[in-house]
Amino acid sequence: MAVLIKNGIVVTAEGESKADVLIKDESIAAVGAGLECEGAEVIDASGKYVLPGGVDQHVHFSFTYKGSKTRGFETSNAAAVGGTTTLIEFVNQEQGRGLVETIEDYRKTDADGIAMVDYSFHSVMTDPRPEVIEEIPRLAEAGYPTMKLFMAYKGQFFHADDDAILQALQKGKEAGITIMVHAENADMIDVATKQLIAEGKTGPYYHAVSRPPVVEAEATRRAIYLAEMADAPLYVVHVTCKEALAEVKAAYQRGQKIFGETCAHYLVLDESDLARPDYEGAKYVCSPALRTEEHREALWEAVDRKWLNAISSDHCGFDFAEQKHMGYGEGKSFADIPNGAPSLQNRLNILWTYGVEEGRISRSRLVDLYATSPAKVNGLDKKGQLAPGFDADVVIFDPDYEGVISVETNLEGVDYSPFEGFKQKGRPETVFLRGKKIVDDAKYIGSKGDGKLVKGKPFGSSYQW
Ligand code: URP
Ligand code: ZN
Ligand code: ZN
Repeated sequence: MAVLIKNGIVVTAEGESKADVLIKDESIAAVGAGLECEGAEVIDASGKYVLPGGVDQHVHFSFTYKGSKTRGFETSNAAAVGGTTTLIEFVNQEQGRGLVETIEDYRKTDADGIAMVDYSFHSVMTDPRPEVIEEIPRLAEAGYPTMKLFMAYKGQFFHADDDAILQALQKGKEAGITIMVHAENADMIDVATKQLIAEGKTGPYYHAVSRPPVVEAEATRRAIYLAEMADAPLYVVHVTCKEALAEVKAAYQRGQKIFGETCAHYLVLDESDLARPDYEGAKYVCSPALRTEEHREALWEAVDRKWLNAISSDHCGFDFAEQKHMGYGEGKSFADIPNGAPSLQNRLNILWTYGVEEGRISRSRLVDLYATSPAKVNGLDKKGQLAPGFDADVVIFDPDYEGVISVETNLEGVDYSPFEGFKQKGRPETVFLRGKKIVDDAKYIGSKGDGKLVKGKPFGSSYQW
């Protein structure tokens, strides 16, 4: 089966030019001017941009906070209509069990035959027994060459201490595993949280007060020192503030292999959203917390100048009506609100409208941040690029569409969107997943189970210097 996309502007991380894209079966066969292919379905992409399918390396379909769980892979068609064709899910190691077996069990029951885009996994080490540390290199053999540790969330089973992080860095580098951290000082948050609650400051806004930028900066710096001692690369997920950014940049400039991402919501929302009336602030409780305008601008500059190399969603499908209300009422506080917000569907839309259209990043930079670099970080050597031999994950993007983001038109399966009412310029009109059209006229037309497991190779881009 062949598809020939003609006359579009092909955008890659390196640049853009008018070119045709030829898909044969599941792969890209050619990219160039004046391509022909007898018998191919021809799509005229005049006036449109042709982008690689997005790679979202930070997704939570299985995150459980205080007993409340997010929506799962059955909502992954939301990624497809948003132009994302590969998702990488964080799987918390089950206590008393192995890293690989936890992922494999979860994969079989919750992803295989359900996912509507391609998928892979990061392990999250929660139970750092000596035999688990020894197991870390096996993640590379299993095709999952990344592992995260949560420095935040004191008292939760997934919180990690420094000894676990140091050992993970040391062991991980033997096999080319990229160690990732959620960098926030758990003790600082814990003390501040208790003090705020004692003062009766329990509403959603105080979530931000309990974890100011210094909390993130301290943990980021500490993780960088741990990486220095281990002489290993480090990847800092969801960098949100100037201070943490300065730590990442300074370490990189000193010659350390320190890399990081930010997420769409930190670029367009801010802490004033946490103060919305009628308990709506709870919709915006995520960690690290939303910041202020000056941090937002610093993040835009950082993604433009390559100080951060990816923009992810950190998607967490918790409902407002039930789950986000867990912190509401007598004896409850912001600390009981499940952390995280849904944003799977709108990552590209937000980046295009508020990044490209507002002149903050180029289209090429967008492609690098939302597809090419995250594929490389995770060792996905067939994803994130429009070039011969790569998987035919392709987005035909209509830049002329104008609309408004609303929960009414999204597929995330959650009762709110943090971007409700945001204007949207442009949209993915047609999306191919390994050569199969799964979005047509901006509507999902694929099937449950279209997504396949993709395995990553170790020694991803964080190791390449
Ligand atoms: O608030 C967030 N980000 N929730 C999901 C888990 C995490 O911290 O990444
Ligand atoms: Zn996190
Ligand atoms: Zn996360």
